[in-house]
Amino acid sequence: MKTFEQIFGAPWTAAAEAPGRVNLLGEHTDYNDGYVLPIAIPQKTRVFLRPGLTKVFRLYTASLDEVAEFDLTSLPDRQFARYIYGCLRQLEILELKVPVLDIYIDSQVPMELGLSSSAALEVATLRALRLLLQLPLDDVRIAQLAQRAEIEYAGVNCGIMDQMASSLADSERMLFLDTRTLERELLPLPDDSEILVVDSGVKRTLAASKYNERRSECESAAQQLGVAALRDVTDPERLASLPPRLRRRAHHVVTENNRVLRARQGITPEEFGQLMNASHASLRDDYEVSIAELDQLAALLQGQPGVYGARLTGAGFGGACVALCKSGTAIISARTVLGLYNRPERKGRRLVPEEAGPKVQ
Ligand code: GLA
Repeated sequence: MKTFEQIFGAPWTAAAEAPGRVNLLGEHTDYNDGYVLPIAIPQKTRVFLRPGLTKVFRLYTASLDEVAEFDLTSLPDRQFARYIYGCLRQLEILELKVPVLDIYIDSQVPMELGLSSSAALEVATLRALRLLLQLPLDDVRIAQLAQRAEIEYAGVNCGIMDQMASSLADSERMLFLDTRTLERELLPLPDDSEILVVDSGVKRTLAASKYNERRSECESAAQQLGVAALRDVTDPERLASLPPRLRRRAHHVVTENNRVLRARQGITPEEFGQLMNASHASLRDDYEVSIAELDQLAALLQGQPGVYGARLTGAGFGGACVALCKSGTAIISARTVLGLYNRPERKGRRLVPEEAGPKVQ
């Protein structure tokens, strides 16, 4: 791998990192002012910076071995550069002065799998800028700026979960977050359990357009029910007046919020697993963001002896499944499931655990 100095001709002066995340419960609830329960994954994105030696921003990504150049007057063509551009523009809006920079990205977070590689890139970039320029930004502010960057420059009208998880979570405890108030709490994983993430082998497609469509459906449902957001409904019976499609979407959100609140109470791994299975069914049947491969993978995982529960994780339409496993069984389950999972072109692979950690093994 090429070094910063080889690419830019001088050493870096500030560096920072941020992790990806896997969401355990609370999917498609954050843009409804609801509750989420993600945990950081061990894989991180690292960003290295120095004030630039030329008149334009220069950006190198080690995973693509590619350089992009841009200035702040027009949106860069390359997608990976847009996340950085978005972060820099947010600082400009706050009237914080940013010099031209040379930027080097090295990411271990798998892309397009629903593990928040973009949030990790945004948060790591803003952290490195905070360090270099001594900016008065706390971790919540960083998450909020990162979310704005994603919405305005990457075309996804996302909620705040991913950026808050990347900025505030660690890989040993779950981050309970109320996305309306930003009240949060780090919670232990259910007793005697560990997390497994498996790539379905299907890259997400249509994710941005379908995501934005789901978000507007939820907003219409909230409007028809006369509430500020679907978070304000707790009883699914209240959804009876909605037209069928909006009722199904809202039903997912209301029941999913209830599942997160239940999980927050410190439940057994068996019950936690049942909530994950119910979440998958709801994402498949009510929210309609699953695909056949994710259903197959989730079902295979759910059928393993050491697995308490499993579901698709992230926005859906491809990507990965997450399972809660009995401690010490994640690797065995992964091997068995990958042997049975029939996807010849890009066979699913085990993503987490990758580096051993105490709980997310
Ligand atoms: C994406 C978005 C998040 C969240 C999830 C679905 O990851 O960035 O804000 O909405 O989808 O739960």
